[in-house]
Amino acid sequence: ASGLRAYASASGGLPPRKVAVLGAAGGIGQPLSLLMKLSPYVSELALYDIAGTPGVAADVSHINSKAAVKGYAGEDQLGEALKGADVVIIPAGVPRKPGMTRDDLFKINAGIVKALVEACGKHCPKVRAASSQAGTDACSWRLFVEVQVTESLPCNTQADWSLPSLMAVVQALLNIISNPVNSTVPIAAETLKRLGVYDEKRVLGVTTLDVVRAKTFYAEKAGLDVSKVDVPVVGGHAGVTILPLFSQAVPNAANKLNDADIDALTKRTQDGGTEVVQAKAGKGSATLSMAYAGALFADACLRGLNGDPDVVECTYVASTITDAPFFSSKVKLGKNGVEQIFGLGELSAYEAEGLKALMPELRQSIQKGEDFALEKQ
Ligand code: NAD
Ligand code: LMR
Repeated sequence: ASGLRAYASASGGLPPRKVAVLGAAGGIGQPLSLLMKLSPYVSELALYDIAGTPGVAADVSHINSKAAVKGYAGEDQLGEALKGADVVIIPAGVPRKPGMTRDDLFKINAGIVKALVEACGKHCPKVRAASSQAGTDACSWRLFVEVQVTESLPCNTQADWSLPSLMAVVQALLNIISNPVNSTVPIAAETLKRLGVYDEKRVLGVTTLDVVRAKTFYAEKAGLDVSKVDVPVVGGHAGVTILPLFSQAVPNAANKLNDADIDALTKRTQDGGTEVVQAKAGKGSATLSMAYAGALFADACLRGLNGDPDVVECTYVASTITDAPFFSSKVKLGKNGVEQIFGLGELSAYEAEGLKALMPELRQSIQKGEDFALEKQ
């Protein structure tokens, strides 16, 4: 269900799903909230921001689609916004201005993401029996007790509820949009680890906009029907760390594109964000195309949760396919989030060079995020 076709489809028989958007009053947040209100997969939509969400929620709520919409403003309402969420989309934080890199946003956005993910860890945990004793620390136990008391969860008689076999994990799939994604995803992971509720299957960096751009530019250059085009984009989400794999694009247009074309397409995809930042000339970065990409990705997460088979998207997750601890590649999404991480497949010599070139920057950005999450406790 690619493109906007999904929005027109019937929603009967789908399970109820709550989606929370954190940063819902922003440039991305508003159109993203609109698109999620149109999604057949959403029955409850929680719109949270530090301010402005009552207006956005009132506006979006008048649309005659299924999802019940509620606005939440200010930190004291964050817990309520997150409670019971299946997917939490996070586009909160400041955008770039011309001349800035995404990493220049770290100073402000790192703290915002950490605080919001901490709230996710506290307000949307679920308890599951652990297969090993990992994660069964005092914090998990406290969360277990808290959840039992506040949510009155039925005790699962099948499980062994003794302390060493319990494990709390964050329940929602976190879709992290806030930049720099290469660092904010590691920040989210470390933050949840510190709370004892980390599940690497549920923390996903949104790189869908890179795929959307690669498809658009490739189809345009090769004269193809864009709705039939697919291009995997791997690595991370900043400059050279964005690596489109045009050698694996479908349909294959090798006979129409020479090496110079592939080089130009690669650079345009890597600089797509900067192209928009410059065109907006100080009024922010991509918001509309990002809202579209964010909605596609959230829908894919929801379809995976609902048990649709073969939901595959490129996303930046904890990964072992390279020696970087986080990497974006094709991922199968299922009932528990990340179900399978696919390898890189066969790369062209040009792409193999690109991969080698991106690793140092990617590793550095990951380390920076992890250090931040650990130092400020
Ligand atoms: P924006 O300034 O228009 O909106 C950001 C919103 O976040 C504002 O409404 C603000 O009030 C809110 N906010 C700030 N602190 C908050 C907090 N603690 N809790 C809740 N909300 C908070 O910016 P934008 O254009 O919507 O961009 C948002 C982020 O998304 C930026 O970091 C940008 O770089 C990033 N982005 C990522 C991608 C991607 O592909 N992953 C694409 C485009 C933009
Ligand atoms: C994008 O790719 O458009 C975003 O990451 C925003 C930016 O700063 O480029």
